[in-house]
Amino acid sequence: MKKLFALSLAMVMLISLTGCGSTPSNDNGENQNGFSTAVKGKLTMATNAAFPPYEYIEGGQVAGIDAEIAAAIAEKLGLELQIDDMEFDSITEAIKGGKADIGLAGMTVTPDRQEEVDFTVSYATGVQVVIVKEGSAITSVADLFKEGASHVVGVQRNTTGDILTTGDIEEKGFGTIDRYSKGAEAVQALKTGKVDCVVIDSEPAKAFVAEVEGLKILETEYVNEDYAAAMSKTNPELYEAVNQTLQDLIADGTIQKIIDKYISVE
Ligand code: ARG
Repeated sequence: MKKLFALSLAMVMLISLTGCGSTPSNDNGENQNGFSTAVKGKLTMATNAAFPPYEYIEGGQVAGIDAEIAAAIAEKLGLELQIDDMEFDSITEAIKGGKADIGLAGMTVTPDRQEEVDFTVSYATGVQVVIVKEGSAITSVADLFKEGASHVVGVQRNTTGDILTTGDIEEKGFGTIDRYSKGAEAVQALKTGKVDCVVIDSEPAKAFVAEVEGLKILETEYVNEDYAAAMSKTNPELYEAVNQTLQDLIADGTIQKIIDKYISVE
């Protein structure tokens, strides 16, 4: 039943694609399908490729779950994918300024961000976890907010790890936050003893801990989150096209297949 639906959907898409395939596009990036993109014929993705396995650099290219998802969306929309790597906190600006069409960066949906950008449906979940040195006095998340706590916490700047710990720890007098441009830099600071722990999403946490000896991830989870793609509020046609395509790719199992390539279920 599901298969049949996917098949008929594919056929409808094929028909609609061929139906107006020869319509010339105009110069401000408008494509045949009735939406415009930052660069004509391209889907431009903004990301921060320092977040394995969602995005990382491999052989000079951006690889990972988000890159593959964007490639699948671009293909369905008949667009060429272009990936722009930048600081994590530049992604929202790139979207708002129309320089990028889609921000895909293991980005958590938050009410504050929803005021800046529109999020697509969620395609994955994430968990904020705490990385410590083996033998650390910090043994659970609760240790970070207990009476008399005063830790230095490493985070990637402007991520939810930063936002959460700033509110829960720094602003409540339980310690200070050291903000790094990359998660791996925060992990390096933990290794060298500059910070007492790192708060970051669980999948990159696993990847970093596997690379640096003597670190571990605490078993207690800090917060559960939803990842979605960020898009401009001022391009509803493109938003609809991308969001619908992403929903189709979730429904037909493509997204799960991509995630399973990178993340094994425990
Ligand atoms: N999920 C976290 C957030 O949205 C961290 C995402 C970091 N992503 C990255 N590509 N560096 O804030």
